[in-house]
This record gives sequence, structure tokens and C-alpha cells, in this order.
Amino acid sequence: MKTLEIAAKIHILDESELTFEQKNVVEAAKSATSRSYSPYSHYKVGAACLLDNGEIITGSNQENAAYPSGLCAERTAVFYAQSRYPDARILKLCIVGKTASDVFSREVCAPCGACRQVILEAEYRSGAPIEILLPSQEGIYVLNGISTLLPFGFTYKEVKET
Ligand code: THU
Repeated sequence: MKTLEIAAKIHILDESELTFEQKNVVEAAKSATSRSYSPYSHYKVGAACLLDNGEIITGSNQENAAYPSGLCAERTAVFYAQSRYPDARILKLCIVGKTASDVFSREVCAPCGACRQVILEAEYRSGAPIEILLPSQEGIYVLNGISTLLPFGFTYKEVKET
């Protein structure tokens, strides 16, 4: 028997340790929570993507009375970024959640499975890992690419003919 062990490295930074660019993307995600449409869960999620053209694109969760028709904040942001600037690369992505009492969640707002898959595709498009920033009360979790959260992800290399 062979055993394959998968290790994940997550750095937890204090706000004072963030770069100027990281700070900007975190602030943009935080302010995007105010544009969430979440009358059902009352959980406001904001996301922000920093692109290689310098633009910061934000998104927020958009819920629907037919629950599965809603969309997470990070997918809203990633899809908007890609539809607005199809040739730009997404360098950084921040996701943050705010509870019904309007305070930022103590824990990180980790992307759901479907969002992880969409982020993986965005990395495939740009050919590089996307830095993911997840603020929490403990500090800002910094991940170098979605493979940290989605090892063995399914990508185009599995479907293309060789
Ligand atoms: N949500 C996000 O927008 N992003 C996540 O990473 C987790 C969950 C949204 C979906 C729904 O509107 C609300 O949070 C509660 O699940």
C-alpha cells in the first residue's frame, strides 16, 4: 500500500502585516457586504478580486426566494470580473461574512464547494494560483491558491483529448 499525504499551509497574518494591495482587497470585500441581498439567511457576504490590470471587482451574495437560484458573493465577483475583463488575470480574492447583527464573523467565511471549483477554473484560465484572503477575528488567513482547499480538483486537463 502506498499512502499519499496532502498537506495544506495557511498563513494567519495580523492586519499590520498585510501589504498595501492586500489591505485594499480586504477593505473592498468588507464594504461589499453592505451590497449583499440576503433577506433569507441574513448572512451578508462580500468578495473582492484584484486583477492584474489594477482593477478591484467586488461581489456580494444574491439570494432568491427559490433558494438554489441565489449566488455566493465570490462567484458573483469572479464571474463579473471575468465577464468584464476576460483577458485579465485574477491575482487575489478576499471573502468576508457579516452576521445578522451586522458584525464581521469571528470565523473565516470559507468558500463553498461550488465556489472552490469556480476559483479553480479561474486559476486554470490565468495559469497561476490566486491568493485567497479570509479575514477572521484571529487574523487574516492567507492561502496560496485554491488547491489548499480543493486538492485533487477537476480541471480541463481531465477532459481534453491528449
Ligand atoms: N455564501 C457566500 O456568499 N459565500 C460563501 O463562501 C458561503 C456562503 C452565502 C450564500 C448564502 O446567500 C448565504 O451565504 C448563507 O449561506
